[in-house]
Amino acid sequence: MQKLIIDGGQPLKGEITVQAAKNSALPIIAACILTEEPVEIINCPHLRDIDAMLDIMRHLGCQAEFDGDKLTITCRDIALNVINNDLTGKLRSSIFILGSILSRCRRAYISRPGGCEIGLRPIDLHIAGLKSLNVQIEDDYGVICCDGSEMAPATISLEFASVGATENLMMAGVLLDGETTIVNAAREPEIVDLAAFINAMGGKVEGAGSSVIKITGVKKLHGCSFEPMPDRICAGTYLAAAAATGGNIVVNNIVPEHIFSITDRLRKVGAKITVRRNSARIVMQERPRPIHKLETNVYPAFPTDMQPQFTAMLAIATGSSVVIENLFENRYGFTGELVKMGANITVRDRVAVVHGVPKLFGATLKASDLRGGAALVTAALGAEGRSVVYGVEHIDRGYEYIERVFSSLGANIRRTTAF
Ligand code: EPZ
Repeated sequence: MQKLIIDGGQPLKGEITVQAAKNSALPIIAACILTEEPVEIINCPHLRDIDAMLDIMRHLGCQAEFDGDKLTITCRDIALNVINNDLTGKLRSSIFILGSILSRCRRAYISRPGGCEIGLRPIDLHIAGLKSLNVQIEDDYGVICCDGSEMAPATISLEFASVGATENLMMAGVLLDGETTIVNAAREPEIVDLAAFINAMGGKVEGAGSSVIKITGVKKLHGCSFEPMPDRICAGTYLAAAAATGGNIVVNNIVPEHIFSITDRLRKVGAKITVRRNSARIVMQERPRPIHKLETNVYPAFPTDMQPQFTAMLAIATGSSVVIENLFENRYGFTGELVKMGANITVRDRVAVVHGVPKLFGATLKASDLRGGAALVTAALGAEGRSVVYGVEHIDRGYEYIERVFSSLGANIRRTTAF
């Protein structure tokens, strides 16, 4: 167990470069199963979620090796082992690997991933979509047994524009003989990145980024070398931390349109933001102004993965804000920790009312999920006095050496062993 010790109050200053996107690299790693040839993933971030995904890939007989930031994956033979609970438990969203295994082997066995800190994380949309492709699915005491021997292309209409279900079904259609269409597909940039990766391997995916994605099956895919897109949530996290500390930073390696809804809200709280081709500068000279209503929704609306960090920043706003979390039913767990720091936040179901206070005070804090942990670090950086953040393993799931990034911006933050 490790902890972060943060002596807050330093305005962040300086320049950083954002890592590649966790939520793009993860499905891309799963998609390596679609070819027997070696695949190189350039600049792959070193994260616990990536490690968890690679554990699953190795469990299936794939070879996966890092050489610095270059990850090489070869799935020459696939062993149809059950992807058991201790693997799916570490990475709920591993369910999207089903599509690539079914594409390659026409059979797959995976334990139900179950819920996590932020919600139940059901998989009904994945299951319904695979059944539309004529996959026979049985639940055998918590193990989902899939028989894709009669799989056939189809048009699938998603009840909800689920990111993971879209990725799963895209991968399931890539090697089918014919055309699979996903209607009401998720439009997140990570979907576009996965489609670009599949096409770089010789696949034929069209319409990614829109609500209708068309996959024309091909016989075989070949290896390739691919660099995942920049992580828009990490970029947003660092910008929000600069806003919470009255800082002045430059964030390099961004795609401006990927973070437009984030920079738009930062301007609303009073930040001065200048965006260049692939970098953004934020200058924050006073306390954030409140946001009357901050509502999360699917891309291109304000992302749920930025809600905790913004809630932490709004805790010191000059007025009251209402935050509405439309994606996950339990994504305010971190607010109890902010209240320990002096925040004035009331939560009812998916709504949090945040009454801004002049400042927060350092406290002993416990992260219980990835973005909630990032919110605690955001608050601690701006607070007066020392905070100790336990549960750093949650933060390491999505942020590469978060303490190095913030200390390079002048923050007084260090990692140490918890006992
Ligand atoms: C992806 O999760 C991301 N994870 C999440 O990021 C992100 O919050 C989420 O998309 C929304 O943008 C990865 O890409 C690895 P969904 P995913 O399916 O695919 C419900 C982070 O912090 N739903 O779009 O699981 C679900 O319960 C993580 O990096 C069903 O009801 O998200 C949720 O309420 C957290 N049935 C909503 O849809 C299903 O079968 C959005 O889920 C699937 C989902």
